[in-house]
Amino acid sequence: MILVTGGAGFIGSNFVFDWLAATDEGIVNVDALTYAGNLRNLASILADRRHVFVRADICDGARMSSLLKEHQPRAIVHLAAESHVDRSILGPDAFLQTNVVGTFRLLEASRAYWGELGQDARAAFRFLHVSTDEVFGSLGPDDPAFSETTPYQPNSPYSASKAASDHFVRTYYHTYGLPVLTTNCSNNYGPFQFPEKLIPLLIVRALAGQPLPVYGDGLNVRDWLYVGDHCSAIRAVLEHGRPGETYNIGGANERANIEIVRTVCGLLDTLAPSTDGPYERLIGFVKDRPGHDRRYAIDSRKVESALNWRPAETLESGLRKTVAWYLANQPWVAAVQDGSYRAWIDRHYGSTDGGAQ
Ligand code: NAD
Ligand code: DAU
Repeated sequence: MILVTGGAGFIGSNFVFDWLAATDEGIVNVDALTYAGNLRNLASILADRRHVFVRADICDGARMSSLLKEHQPRAIVHLAAESHVDRSILGPDAFLQTNVVGTFRLLEASRAYWGELGQDARAAFRFLHVSTDEVFGSLGPDDPAFSETTPYQPNSPYSASKAASDHFVRTYYHTYGLPVLTTNCSNNYGPFQFPEKLIPLLIVRALAGQPLPVYGDGLNVRDWLYVGDHCSAIRAVLEHGRPGETYNIGGANERANIEIVRTVCGLLDTLAPSTDGPYERLIGFVKDRPGHDRRYAIDSRKVESALNWRPAETLESGLRKTVAWYLANQPWVAAVQDGSYRAWIDRHYGSTDGGAQ
């Protein structure tokens, strides 16, 4: 049995599906169901006896301890977090609370649980912390990609909170010997991503005939990875990674945002053409994100050579699958666009729909 946190969110729900497809081992899924967590993501496996869903907040240390005692996991895969950079700019408190305090409480509960295991179980136990490439800050156009030894230089409240949590995770290995692993991954995309993030936001807004807001000059670069490939990398690190080490994970798909926007528009033109003309007509450049990191790129050579991991999707195949998924799952999209979603979009982009210029 393993325990995953944040398994009703985007990567977490994909990870739970990936896990159940790859193994018969059970999975306890602990999630607070914030605005980003959605039990609908898990509808197809709620009756699967290998999967146990528990609604709980990782900041509740006593609850985490009792869940560990009850389910006796051999490993924890920690994904629960506040994850959206723009929200962290408007309200950093929740990021400090969940990403730093929550991770700390989970580490403390894990340390106590692990300390009481028998010798073999202690040696086999793993705490895998899922982190981000954003902790490394921003690259110039000719800088080498982020490696595992790149210094941390976070630039947003989100990335600072993730960096702080990474540091706490590290200390639990060096100070207490807890067998931790950390992954630092680049931008994910795929099914079940909440439509506040660039790619699903574009799809959902384009289909509604709404403006497609591109921050700044649209030339910020991200390194995109299909979510299923992130999940396979997490499994590889969990089973074969060395405790105390960190692993960078990326797709070697560096693209400027405007290229991504045009590609998504092109896919929609093919898969769901609009009678009003090509979707690119909706593109609009809006006020930049404060502290907007210019470029991310991941050097994945360590996870590739040490753990023999490779992504299965190209950016082209992954984006096509993703657009097709959103087209086939419009009831899911409609269900997540509740009042709190609309309030966020209005607050961030302006209620007139014209963008934040
Ligand atoms: P998400 O926002 O879609 O999901 C986060 C999940 O965590 C939600 O289900 C939410 O309900 C849950 N959660 C939030 N606060 C909680 C709390 N206090 N207690 C219990 N559950 C709580 O996020 P995501 O995009 O799936 O990201 C998952 C993890 O992967 C995060 O740690 C994020 O930093 C990291 N990551 C994300 C990306 C990406 O591109 N999305 C890339 C690299 C790393
Ligand atoms: O790099 C990994 C990170 O990727 C994860 O740690 C974060 O959890 C995840 O949210 C993501 O962060 P980004 O800020 O890169 O993702 P987002 O989808 O918000 O934005 C992608 C790029 O698109 C970024 O350069 C900002 C830009 N953008 C975003 C939005 C929402 C726009 O131009 N317009 C938009 O409306």
